[in-house]
Amino acid sequence: MSPASPVTLCDLLGRQQPGMTLEQPFYTDPGIFEEDLNRIVARQWLYVDHVSAIPQPGDVLTYEIAGESIILVRGRDREVRAFFNVCRHRGSRIITKACDHVRTLTCPYHAWTWDLEGKLVKARSMADDFRTEDWPLHACRTRIYQGLVFICLAEEDDDDVIEFDSIADRLDPYIENHCLGAAKVAARKAYPTAGNWKLAVENFRECYHCAPAHPGYTSVNAYVLDGERDQQARSETVAAWAATWEERGVVTRSTGVWGDSYDERQPHAAMRQPIKEGYRTLSRDGRPVAPLMGRLIDWDGGETLMVFGPLFYIYLAGDHAALFRFTPVHATHTDVEVTWLVNGDAREGEDYDEERLTWMWDVTTIEDTRIIGDNQLGVNSRRYRPGRYSTRERATTNFVEWYKRRMGDQL
Ligand code: FES
Ligand SMILES: [Fe+2]
Repeated sequence: MSPASPVTLCDLLGRQQPGMTLEQPFYTDPGIFEEDLNRIVARQWLYVDHVSAIPQPGDVLTYEIAGESIILVRGRDREVRAFFNVCRHRGSRIITKACDHVRTLTCPYHAWTWDLEGKLVKARSMADDFRTEDWPLHACRTRIYQGLVFICLAEEDDDDVIEFDSIADRLDPYIENHCLGAAKVAARKAYPTAGNWKLAVENFRECYHCAPAHPGYTSVNAYVLDGERDQQARSETVAAWAATWEERGVVTRSTGVWGDSYDERQPHAAMRQPIKEGYRTLSRDGRPVAPLMGRLIDWDGGETLMVFGPLFYIYLAGDHAALFRFTPVHATHTDVEVTWLVNGDAREGEDYDEERLTWMWDVTTIEDTRIIGDNQLGVNSRRYRPGRYSTRERATTNFVEWYKRRMGDQL
């Protein structure tokens, strides 16, 4: 069914059973993919990059998402701004090829030129009543949070978009001591994934698959096998660990995580849990892979998962952060990018080693890329029918139920 008509989408949503995976077209249909972009992706705060990607005035990058190209540029006043890569003359793309520094933003078509703050400074041969101040670049909503740049494609007055501050206020206690604004990018890797974005998100939000599919990850994260064997014993371990660290001022509480209960517009959450007895960080042997981050004072052996809506997740260990950005590309393709941050003054080769730092998430994400691709191939089959989620896929079920509500609400 392409393009998706509202009636058909309505029928499909109506057919969906709770606790079951989605009907095939939600994972395969280009028309529904377009609706996903309009109804969901364009109304979320989306992580783009760490501020250190454009450190100097004139440094620039572009990010393609939901059919848009967004320019991120640092102005002469050192502020980071985002603009739609759309010329105000006749609509051409302005930045058309890879480029990391500009003096001005000049359209290659007829050379209208904007300054780094988005003000039109040159347009040749225009009528006398043309006023350059009436033609700034289209600004894109932007927020810098803990050194991370977020954008939102929706108009300023779209009240279906959550105020970013309400996410920040809830998540601050879990992230602020890591001081990510002063961190540096130690590694960055791309994982092109041959699956619909929802299959990638569903996979990321459950660990039912961890024991069979991720031997390395499972060897590091005790919760995987603890949860399979004895949930009660696991709860006691977590409670004892939390009691020790809360006393020392470390936040170990969870907030809204598996229920994703905070705000229907962009569910967000955080949780911290112990990694494994004797493990200080998420490394192969549990030994640190970099210096403690920010204002942290000790190794609590914990890992924090933070959720910023469906497309951005952070894992925080004591000595590094791993950022997971999902970019839907087309109905059966998603770009996953993982960025590793360490303390800003850490030196490669002395304080950290890229292979040790990236081992767990690199191996795990490569495995995920494979299983998501296999998942998509099976879902493409004539015989695919929705299947039933397990009790260990609660965050995935919550995501799918949320997705259906968001798509249905806007019909
Ligand atoms: S379309 Fe950009 S200057 Fe004409
Ligand atoms: Fe996985």
